[in-house]
Formats: sequence, structure tokens, C-alpha cells
Amino acid sequence: MTGIGNRKEDHINICMNESITPEHCYWDDVKLVHEALPELDMEDIDTGARVLGKRLSYPFIVTAITGGFPGAERINGNIAEACSRLGIGMGVGSQRASLEGEERRSFEVVKEHDVPLVLANVGAPQLIPQQGKPAFDEGMLDDAMEMVGADALAVHLNFLQEVVQPEGDTRSAGCYDRIREVCRGRKVVAKETGAGISRSTAERLRGAGVAAIDVAGMGGTSFSAVELHRARSVGDGARESIGSSFFDWGIPAPVSVAWADVGVPVIASGGVRNGLHVAKALSLGACCAGAANLVLREATESADAVEERLMRVMSELKAAMMLTGAKDIEQMSSRRSVITGKCKEWM
Ligand SMILES: Cc1cc2nc3c(=O)[nH]c(=O)nc-3n(C[C@H](O)[C@H](O)[C@H](O)COP(=O)(O)O)c2cc1C
Repeated sequence: MTGIGNRKEDHINICMNESITPEHCYWDDVKLVHEALPELDMEDIDTGARVLGKRLSYPFIVTAITGGFPGAERINGNIAEACSRLGIGMGVGSQRASLEGEERRSFEVVKEHDVPLVLANVGAPQLIPQQGKPAFDEGMLDDAMEMVGADALAVHLNFLQEVVQPEGDTRSAGCYDRIREVCRGRKVVAKETGAGISRSTAERLRGAGVAAIDVAGMGGTSFSAVELHRARSVGDGARESIGSSFFDWGIPAPVSVAWADVGVPVIASGGVRNGLHVAKALSLGACCAGAANLVLREATESADAVEERLMRVMSELKAAMMLTGAKDIEQMSSRRSVITGKCKEWM
């Protein structure tokens, strides 16, 4: 297995066994206004939504987690099976290792399931040359999409991780122009990986022609924390210290959802842990929500475990819709939310 495959396996192990999220839950700062007289029946609530042109049974995507090492086949297979049964979207993790000639099966397994919305995944740093390594060309990007039968290509913006990780790709000049080129003829989702997207960056991404923005804001998985643990395990004190200093770096996810609402569909993620968080995200302007860490442990177990977890999210979303008097996702999106606490300070 290559360095990349090892790294992807490290990420799974660290996220399952170490503390990698800030203590504060920023979604708790957002409150929905209770409706004491909803005048609708729970069974009539319709959670169906259109996301990136695809019909989902509720507005949710299991966002990028993994791929590129043999153990990842089971994880992506379990997620794909559960998402296909439930009728929701999924992304795969960075396809870099496979595009560079390594293991592909862990990505191809997604095609064996009828997932209504599939996102391929490459990193923005790999769209430009890095320290003697050439940039991914158009053929490689098409290959990434074909490998998973993708409806759209997620381009992740993970510079927090790159500056903290021991072997990080730290060149970023030129990424914007490349993203603009990649958007020609493809549906691109620009996604962060846990540090959020500001309004001005969202506006620039809109200018580049992206089809959606996944804010992946601060408050959930912290890649600074993940890389801190990796640096510690190899005795790299300097990197460990950077990881620790930047543990909660970023824009809180709910704030980023509100800021990134600039006329391009927004996917709300970063610390989303239940269906109430999904309802809050919709009220802040998101077209759907997403989460990675939420299903990670279950994905290592079975498709049934992933499905059960995600069913719970749907039930909680329905409960929030009932209690705000929203009979469908459009009405849920128009419900008022009150911003309190740390998020209020940000906004
Ligand atoms: C183990 C793990 C691996 C991840 N790998 C990727 C990746 O390869 N590409 C990517 O775009 N995001 C990756 N992410 C980031 C997630 O897609 C998501 O943006 C982020 O974790 C925030 O969501 P969460 O708080 O629900 O985990 C990964 C997340 C986890 C937990």
C-alpha cells in the first residue's frame, strides 16, 4: 500500500478512536421557533428533495470519507448500499491514490449500488503541480468520475489539513483558475473539509461556475486534530504543535451556511449529528445537509448499521418539521431560526 493508502487508513482509525471534534456544538446555537398548532399529520410530511438535479428521499448526503486502500471497499460498499436503500446521496473520499495507479476497487464498489446521487472526489491542491508532482489532467478527472459512476465531482479545499500534515501539499496559487476550468462541462461541488467557507470565497466559487458549495464548517471533524494525532505518532513535535494550535480553526458550520448562501446551492456540513441539525441547516438556507463522521463507525460494521443511523436522522428531521409546522422541505426552508451564543457573535 502507498503512503496515501496508509494515510487514509490512519484517518479512519484516528477518527474512530481519538478526540477530533471541538467541545462546543455550534448547531446548538441555532434554535428553531416552536409551532404549538402545526395543523398537519406526521404521516403527510414529505421530506423528498431535489439536490443537484437528483431526487432524494430526504435532503442528505453522506459526504466524502474514504477509498484507496483494501479495507475501504467494505466501508464504501456499506455506505453505498445504505444510501441506495434510503434514496440519499453519497460521496467517496479522495481518489488520488487510485488516479496515481493504486487500488481502485474500493471506489468501483459504489457502482454496484443504485445510489441516486454520487460525488467523485479530488483535492484542489492536486489540480496544480506540487513539489515536482504534475497536476491531475482532464482525463484523470473524467476517470475519477467514471470510477464511481459520479453525477458530480467534489473538489475539496483542504489547505488547513495540508499545512498541518507532515507530507502536505502547500501550494495553492492557481487553484481558482483550475477550478474554473474544471467546471467547464462538469458539475462541480466545491467542498471544504471542516474549516468552512466565507461569503467572499463563496462568491468567488460562484464566479468559477461551481454547481454547489459544501461548506464543511468548523465544529465537526477537525483535520487539524486528525493530523495532530498522526504527527504525534511519528514523533513530529513541530507538526503536532501546529495541529494543536489550529484545533478549532475555521468558520463555524452554521455561520458558514448563512454566509455561503450567495445564489449557489449550499450543502450544510461540519458537525451535523442528527435530523434536528438538518432542519436547522435548511432554515439557514442550505438545500441539503451532509455528514461524514456521523456514520463512520457504522460504515465499518454493516450496511444495516449505516441505514439504521440514517433512518434516525430522517425521523428526527420529520419531528422537527412537525414541530415547526412544515409539511415539506420548501416550507422547512422558510422556517425562522434564532441564532444565539458563539454563532451570534460570529454573525
Ligand atoms: C475519516 C474521514 C476521512 C475524510 N476524507 C475526506 C476526503 O478524502 N475528501 C474530502 O473531501 N473530505 C474528506 N473528509 C471530510 C468530510 O467529507 C467532511 O467534510 C468533514 O469531515 C466534516 O464533516 P463531519 O463533521 O460530519 O465529519 C473526511 C472525513 C473523515 C471523518
